[in-house]
Amino acid sequence: MTAKKFAVKKIGIIERYQEFLPITDSTPIISLNEGNTPLILAEALPAELGLKNVRIYYKFEGLNPTGSFKDRGMTMAISKAVEANSKAVICASTGNTSASAAAYASRCGLKCFVLIPEGKIAKGKLIQAYRYGAKTIMVKGNFDEALNLVKEISADGKITLVNSINPFRIEGQKTAAFEIVDDLGDAPEYHAIPVGNAGNITAYWRGYNEYKRIGRSETLPRMLGFQAAGSAPIVEGKPVANPETIATAIRIGNPASWQGAVSARDESHGLIEAVTDDEIRAAYRFIAEREGVFAEPASAAAVAGVIKLAKRNYFEPHSRLVITLTGAGLKDPDFALSFDDPIACVEPKLDKVREVIES
Ligand code: F0G
Repeated sequence: MTAKKFAVKKIGIIERYQEFLPITDSTPIISLNEGNTPLILAEALPAELGLKNVRIYYKFEGLNPTGSFKDRGMTMAISKAVEANSKAVICASTGNTSASAAAYASRCGLKCFVLIPEGKIAKGKLIQAYRYGAKTIMVKGNFDEALNLVKEISADGKITLVNSINPFRIEGQKTAAFEIVDDLGDAPEYHAIPVGNAGNITAYWRGYNEYKRIGRSETLPRMLGFQAAGSAPIVEGKPVANPETIATAIRIGNPASWQGAVSARDESHGLIEAVTDDEIRAAYRFIAEREGVFAEPASAAAVAGVIKLAKRNYFEPHSRLVITLTGAGLKDPDFALSFDDPIACVEPKLDKVREVIES
């Protein structure tokens, strides 16, 4: 009997896009097979918005190994940290970065420290960092304060900072733009994305530009960034001291990659606007209930932004729009259950169940 061969080798973003990434023969590849996420064609959304001639796609980053786009940047940051002989990594996080850092650090035996704002991160993300074994520290303050702390702690170089100030993070995250162009055959006309610390919009813009430079695409998209109204420093043009929003992932008042986001907006002739928490709630429910795609509230901010722009007739006919859904809906069970539509609970009797079915 011959052993079965494993025909399918699923690879991560470093192996797939190595010629575009700052790796060498001596970079160890610490991967959980991140990337290669689907572009899901939207059906209900364009119908609802009367955008019959606009093809809308969801780039569903919730299907990454830890459930968010952060894994693309983290495979790079952790691989480079190991290459540099680092023994520990640290980050501040609204949840997803800490989940991802903890997972990749656990995979290669690095110590991991994460600082998170107390009471303001989704439960799924908290338990990820905790159960992947990171030393999890809650800070009685917000993300911006936590980021300042980890910058200071990592300043002497003994512990590697893996927030998106670490340049390898942005390098890894730009691969999402490569995948989109590889799938569509060219860049879309528009790309909508939520903006928090502003690393991701910076990364996508870099990715689209690099692919255009080498002729893989002929065009560049307009970058459409969306912040939550209570946490919209780039829209307001000044830091927000006490950011608030139900989309806790983007509850950030002083984004580290502010300038990168402004460049992406201006060079692409795009925009960065704010959406309200109510608009985020509505968009969150729409994509779950009408498209079968369950993303977290911060991701829904981009959908809310698209809905807003569509109402202003912003989109040209016969165009393509990609919306990045940055994280998985399962991460935030408390938010999912915070709506005014209770789940029925009945006695185990046929008539009681029928009553609910027929109501
Ligand atoms: N969407 C989700 C689900 C996020 O977790 C984040 C950022 C963003 C959007 C915004 O991306 O910061 O690159 O502009 N989360 C970070 C974290 C801040 O700590 O997990 P950004």
